Amino acid sequence: MEIHRYEKLWFAAALVLIIAFIGTVTYGAVGAGISMIDDEGGTIDPNTLGEHERFGDPGVYESDDPDVDYEVNMVAFHPAYNPGTVEVPEGSVVEFYITSRDVIHGYEIVGTNVNTMIIPGQVSQFTVEFDEPKEYGVLCNEYCGSFHHEMSGQVIVVEEGEWNPDEMLDGRDGGES
Ligand code: CUA
Repeated sequence: MEIHRYEKLWFAAALVLIIAFIGTVTYGAVGAGISMIDDEGGTIDPNTLGEHERFGDPGVYESDDPDVDYEVNMVAFHPAYNPGTVEVPEGSVVEFYITSRDVIHGYEIVGTNVNTMIIPGQVSQFTVEFDEPKEYGVLCNEYCGSFHHEMSGQVIVVEEGEWNPDEMLDGRDGGES
């Protein structure tokens, strides 16, 4: 059977497109450093956060995990985050644990690929490395009520020389929070 030259060309072009599509999707899923927030953070009762060991006293703490420098225990509630401002030194690895006390919120650190839903009853857990001193805006991108547009926060990555853990971290034993 004779296959026309153009038929062969189009066949080859279609094959290249299919392979390119598969490649793009694969790169987007695993190659671009993007990971989905899964259920690793576990579930939680949103009505008793005040008594919870992690969320009873939200704040930024030194981490016990040797691979992590600081941990952020955060509660979202319309229309704010507690803590609203997170300060960490440059070059630090920060593990976030965020949950909601009321409705679904979002937590996007603008200009990074951090962007997650905050769901009551669930803990969103993710780790971020902040290399450069920089101030990031944080916003809620899930419509959560009449002041959704005002729901914002900040992550401030401070220069090593300006880092003051006594002032910027929360104490383990019920210090300032
Ligand atoms: Cu919280 Cu929108």
